[in-house]
Amino acid sequence: MLASKSLPLAPQRRPSVGRRASPSGRVHHVIVCKAHKICVLPGDGIGPEIMSVATKALTAAGQKEGEEFEYMYELIGGAAIDATGSPLPDKTLATAKASDAVLLAAIGGYKWDSYPNEIRPEKGLLKIRSELNAFANLRPAIVPKQEVFSSCQKNRRTSDVIFIEWLVERIARVAFEAARKRNKRLCSVEKSNVLEVSQLWKEVVTKLGKDYPDVELTHMYVDNAAMQLVRNPKYFDVVVTSNLFGDILSDEASMLAGSLGMLPSASISGDGPGIYEPVHGSAPDIAGQDIANPMAMMLSAAMMCRYDLDCPKVSDRLEAAVSQVLDEGLRTGDIFKEGYPNTRKVKCSELSEHLLRIVSA
Ligand code: NAI
Ligand code: MG
Repeated sequence: MLASKSLPLAPQRRPSVGRRASPSGRVHHVIVCKAHKICVLPGDGIGPEIMSVATKALTAAGQKEGEEFEYMYELIGGAAIDATGSPLPDKTLATAKASDAVLLAAIGGYKWDSYPNEIRPEKGLLKIRSELNAFANLRPAIVPKQEVFSSCQKNRRTSDVIFIEWLVERIARVAFEAARKRNKRLCSVEKSNVLEVSQLWKEVVTKLGKDYPDVELTHMYVDNAAMQLVRNPKYFDVVVTSNLFGDILSDEASMLAGSLGMLPSASISGDGPGIYEPVHGSAPDIAGQDIANPMAMMLSAAMMCRYDLDCPKVSDRLEAAVSQVLDEGLRTGDIFKEGYPNTRKVKCSELSEHLLRIVSA
């Protein structure tokens, strides 16, 4: 479960009262909410495979919880380059801006690695983040209670950690707020003994800390943080750091969670639509083989429902389904270990069927 669930980011949707005929023919008043408009960007590699699982699960969970989702599919990354010559076509950007939230799988692949810098898939990703003013990136490193390989943690009693990256003051505020909703501990990670930019970072975070006397603020150099994360992950509650350090540390933290295939993320802007995407990339090495783990994608959809769409019950349902398939012993290859009792290796499609069964129950 995402312990970060209570960040106060979702705008309230205003439901309207409508009239609907019941099966008996009697007309009665019901609360009708407009469909949530989701800009869906499957992208490249395993993207389309895992996105299809997430949207099906979202629709099914919405049906159970009285929420409706409208999907607007657009191109991004390599797929967009192939079709239009641009990694982020204008149409994609316009749809994203007009949406309530953006659900993105992943971009990139061998095919485009040799392309010139300005038309590489990654450009599309960077551009959509900046165009949507997505200044903070939240990466909960969720440690599942179930034994999940290839986690490097033999002792499963580690707690989850949430990473927040990007733009100092605004993100520091998001981080303090996140810590407030969790165990009230915030660790600011930098390299101020060497980097001037880190000294500024530390100054800003320290100053802002005065507004949050209830949050215990600590500072750590990034090299030490990399070590402590393996040695004693329980030390951390919320970690706030810059983009580069956050990228590296959150990949490291993925090994606490079991696999990159389990980690969702959110890039939030505070006003416009946020971008919700798994931490992992497009995994071109396993694309099209029906072996990708769709759970990070599903958990990203759950974050979207919680933070941008104000439908926490849908979110709960998606997260509970992930937890239950793990309880049932189902594992995709990335989190499976031969000979481990009561677990079974399954394809992406089989796992998806089970996820859908549980979400719809
Ligand atoms: P990657 O995250 O795609 O893959 C790293 C390893 O993890 C691979 O062995 C892959 O098979 C495995 N993996 C990743 N997601 C998985 C899943 N859901 N289920 C099972 N196994 C999974 O990172 P890599 O290999 O460094 O990059 C591949 C491509 O993805 C590159 O073109 C890169 O630029 C792009 N990329 C895109 C990102 C994004 O769209 N946000 C983020 C990181 C990389
Ligand atoms: Mg990364």
